[in-house]
Amino acid sequence: MSKICHLDFVICHSETMSQDKMDKIVSLSKRRGFIFPSSEIYGGIGGVYDLGPLGVELKNNIKRIWWRDLVWSRDDMVGLDAAILMNPKVWEASGHIQSFTDPLVECKNCHKRFRADHLVEKYETDEVGVFSLKDLEQMEKVIKNMSCPECGQKKLTPPRQFNLMFKTYIGPVEDNASVVYLRPETAQGIFVNFKNILSTMRKKIPFGIAQIGKSFRNEITPGNFIFRTREFEQMEIEWFCPSKAADKWFNYWKDERMKWYVGLGIKKDNLKFRKHEKQELAHYAKEAVDIEYKFPFGWSELEGIANRQDYDLRQHQKFSTQDLTYFDEETKEKYLPHVVEPSGGVDRALLAFLVDAYHEETVRGEKRVVLKFHKDLSPIKVSILPLVRNKKELVKVAKEVYNMIKPESVSMYDELGSIGRRYRRQDEIGTPYAVTIDFETLKDKAVTVRDRDTMKQERVKIGKLVDYLKKEM
Ligand code: GAP
Repeated sequence: MSKICHLDFVICHSETMSQDKMDKIVSLSKRRGFIFPSSEIYGGIGGVYDLGPLGVELKNNIKRIWWRDLVWSRDDMVGLDAAILMNPKVWEASGHIQSFTDPLVECKNCHKRFRADHLVEKYETDEVGVFSLKDLEQMEKVIKNMSCPECGQKKLTPPRQFNLMFKTYIGPVEDNASVVYLRPETAQGIFVNFKNILSTMRKKIPFGIAQIGKSFRNEITPGNFIFRTREFEQMEIEWFCPSKAADKWFNYWKDERMKWYVGLGIKKDNLKFRKHEKQELAHYAKEAVDIEYKFPFGWSELEGIANRQDYDLRQHQKFSTQDLTYFDEETKEKYLPHVVEPSGGVDRALLAFLVDAYHEETVRGEKRVVLKFHKDLSPIKVSILPLVRNKKELVKVAKEVYNMIKPESVSMYDELGSIGRRYRRQDEIGTPYAVTIDFETLKDKAVTVRDRDTMKQERVKIGKLVDYLKKEM
């Protein structure tokens, strides 16, 4: 008992500090138009968020860069955009109807629901020792001695498996025959199109199919802002290779994906690999590793890399009775390829980029909040700021400069408030360059360009401004 009290104290203390940073990020996201709770005017809906004008720019940048680096710049990858609704047999074959479950526990007193595996993972008791987080019986042994984390009463139900897939009906009749699911992963859309892509794109193994799209999971405990939501986007690759080469490709993708996050500015110290223990491996995986990010609420999964073997193609071949084998022209071998899957969450990446970019600095005695995004990620690249707004000639030039830059890069015109406040506003949304039009501009046809990170200012001729910004970015 005393051990638990002490643990609670430590958690509370560190939670307060990290909660503070999370609160600031949640507040900035709302205040500056990155992320809003979904349907907020009706009180919201649990585990669902909307992206505001800056959030959608940031998210589109993440997706475009991922696509650029993984599809456009490679000869061994093709893209796909499969539908969210699929024939329900897909989910029978993939094992999701049977196995895509989380253990659910409810408190009979306060009716709060919890994930049993989350409740027990902190408590390794002498009685049961280390155990599988999937084993209901073993979890029940621990949970029956636990109090509800919400109300403190010892009234938790035994865990039961709860399927995370959202169900709906296709067509006008709501019966068992018309049940369909919202896809819980984009991956299956890739597997069921494997043959189509093979025959249309004339790809030779090894090659990959990449897809970005929405997935839905009826999470028992969504939380930590947009970290675990019920509607989210994934960016997934299914990499098809001979079974013998799967280990090599697994290591290759592990390294590539880690490099990608670092290349986009995430601090190396805030990223690490975590190998899955045997008992936590998904039903299809032989080996899996997570890339974890040090979020304010602790190290948590950003992306998973899994060796799915030939599990999915074999299952779809069996359930569809279609031949999904690959014929190797050189070796004359016919086989089911094995699959290595790097699978990331777009929203989790967005949260990690936000957290990592968030800095508080003191400048001349004043606090400055700045999002030091990698420039490719910044929602707005350039802001155009006339020094004052009540001087017609200045505003006229500022608008000309704005119209000149607008077709070249995403820019924002802002004339409201003091110049200092406008700089702070742009810092807070991570705009790399602020262009100020001042009284000197009217004489020397030059503007001041301020760098977000160094705050250094440089005078640049208007005629050379576009080239200057292109070179800097
Ligand atoms: N196809 C494999 C697959 O879906 P996963 O580990 O369940 O594997 C992959 O999900 C990634 O999708 C995770 O690493 C995470 O970034 C993202 N993800 C999963 N569930 C999520 C949720 N409820 N909210 C936000 N992102 C989620």
